[in-house]
Amino acid sequence: MPQIIDGKKISQQIKDELKAEVQELAAEGRRACLAVVQVGTDPASTVYVNNKKKACAYIGIESRSFELPEETAEEELVSLVERLNQDPEVNGILVQLPLPAHIDEDRIIRTISPDKDVDGFHPVSVGRLWIGEKGFLSCTPAGIIQLLKRSGISVEGKRCVVVGRSNIVGKPMAALLLRENGTVTIAHSRTKNLKEITRQAEILIVAVGKEKFITREYVGEGAAVIDVGMHRDAQNHLCGDVDYADVESVASAITPVPGGVGPMTIAMLMNNCVETIRTREDRS
Ligand code: GUN
Repeated sequence: MPQIIDGKKISQQIKDELKAEVQELAAEGRRACLAVVQVGTDPASTVYVNNKKKACAYIGIESRSFELPEETAEEELVSLVERLNQDPEVNGILVQLPLPAHIDEDRIIRTISPDKDVDGFHPVSVGRLWIGEKGFLSCTPAGIIQLLKRSGISVEGKRCVVVGRSNIVGKPMAALLLRENGTVTIAHSRTKNLKEITRQAEILIVAVGKEKFITREYVGEGAAVIDVGMHRDAQNHLCGDVDYADVESVASAITPVPGGVGPMTIAMLMNNCVETIRTREDRS
């Protein structure tokens, strides 16, 4: 049986550590405030946004909600973000994605000040990540690094294969594994001989967005398998990009869905919010 990497437990540990740190920082007069912007009423986004606000409350971070109607003009959203950039009481800005089709998402991401970019999506944050400069890290990949570290799985010198090349997960994941001295391959939908490549992985990270896509033929004996996917199967059960029941007999460690990578994203968002005040002394 593989080691089951318990993201629920590890994310709770991180949140408790952050809560204690926030109390200490508050005693020094440093308080964090996250602006949470949602445009429209997409039910999934509403659930995510509410969970982020709940996590803020738990840790002791103030959150300010900005709920805008679906038909909000792009210029209006740009103005709001610019206002939040200037607001000294706001340390972090989160604009929940996806945005309605008439709004240029890239423009909004670029409008957020890199100093308040707690999602780590701004090109400046991405550039800092790749050149090894301090900056905000994309939350899901940063959470995966924490899952590995806190489960005693070292990346150093290992063959790591990331399946998926999105800007939010695949690419920053590869950068972070490289930063941890892994030997990194990025595979994707056009990769030839995918099974041969994934079978070489000692650490296999899967973010393809296809239900139970990775079966045991894709996994080398003893690999650590990290599943970023989240789907509902034909029986309406939550499942990931990895066929867990099939893969568990070959993997040495594996993340379940739910309860693996999922809870880590918010924990790392909270870490980024705390990061906004760790080194700042200009708030009271
Ligand atoms: N939508 C789905 N995941 C995310 C996320 O991590 N950040 C933002 N801003 N929107 C999302």
